[in-house]
Amino acid sequence: MISHIPVLLEPLLALSWDPAQGPSQPRWYFDGTFGRGGHCKALMEKYPQMKVVAVDRDQEAINWARSSDSPFFQALQSGRMFLFKSNFKDFFSRYEEKIQALTQGQGFDLMLLDLGVSSPQLDQAARGFSFYQDGPLDMRMDQDQQFTAADLINHFDEEELIEVFQEFGEIRRPHRVVKALLEQRGVKPFLRTGELAALIEKTEGWRAKGRNPSTRYFLALRLKVNQELEGLGSCLEEMTEFLAEGGRLMVISFHSLEDRIVKTSFKQSPKGFLVNKKVIQAPWSEQKQNPRARSAKLRVFQKGEKR
Ligand SMILES: C[S@@+](CC[C@H](N)C(=O)[O-])C[C@H]1O[C@@H](n2cnc3c(N)ncnc32)[C@H](O)[C@@H]1O
Repeated sequence: MISHIPVLLEPLLALSWDPAQGPSQPRWYFDGTFGRGGHCKALMEKYPQMKVVAVDRDQEAINWARSSDSPFFQALQSGRMFLFKSNFKDFFSRYEEKIQALTQGQGFDLMLLDLGVSSPQLDQAARGFSFYQDGPLDMRMDQDQQFTAADLINHFDEEELIEVFQEFGEIRRPHRVVKALLEQRGVKPFLRTGELAALIEKTEGWRAKGRNPSTRYFLALRLKVNQELEGLGSCLEEMTEFLAEGGRLMVISFHSLEDRIVKTSFKQSPKGFLVNKKVIQAPWSEQKQNPRARSAKLRVFQKGEKR
């Protein structure tokens, strides 16, 4: 089983709760991007009284947590933890009554979103996220979703493809790749990540040293297929409604478009304030150990008045 190293764990633990705000530890924790539960496990160990509601849209992550040899099996059996397969963006409207009943109307003292994909998703060729390993052109986090990366690549028209790569990959001139893509799919539809990566590499070449030319194209596809940016701002706003007074909402993002949404939403919220003015990034030692940490940014919002 491929594991996932939780990023920015130390600062996240340090900033997770301020006992001056109320109880000595958070009573209820919401984890909207459970993954392999790395952050969740560390927080549960730090706060042994804390109860947990965890969510992931990926059935594999849910099955893993529920299996009898998972570190969460006991907590799920004993009622310390509740796990849902859901998109965190739909969760609050779908389960509002349940949340109110569980937290006795107080809401969560601590909430976390660790956005993006997990290592088990990225590193399994069969999930179709990788340009290093050939797999089906899939990229869905939620296996119940119909729309795949192959649907996008084979059915979007020229203008739509250019827009996806420009908007989500921040590629200024994707036109040559899109032209080549349209020509090739006229002969045979794209089915594999390897076919797409080979076309991008042939058309673009390795311009930036050390950076695979497929990186930004694959990121754009992933963001579009999973609608990762859509509705994120309004979801953050909704989440602050479910935060208890003095509670903290922490978000880890992995690229500038995502971080901009988080920063704007937190800065503009009338319900609270940013705990740290400056964004928190991983120290060099963590970046060396875990390449995913290089682009990780943590922002922490607290509900209530700044004292
Ligand atoms: C970066 S990983 C989280 C890793 C986790 N913090 C850990 O330490 O193991 C992101 C996870 O969030 C899930 N995810 C991403 N967007 C989601 C969404 N909108 N709703 C629910 N889950 C989502 C992905 O399926 C993936 O499992």
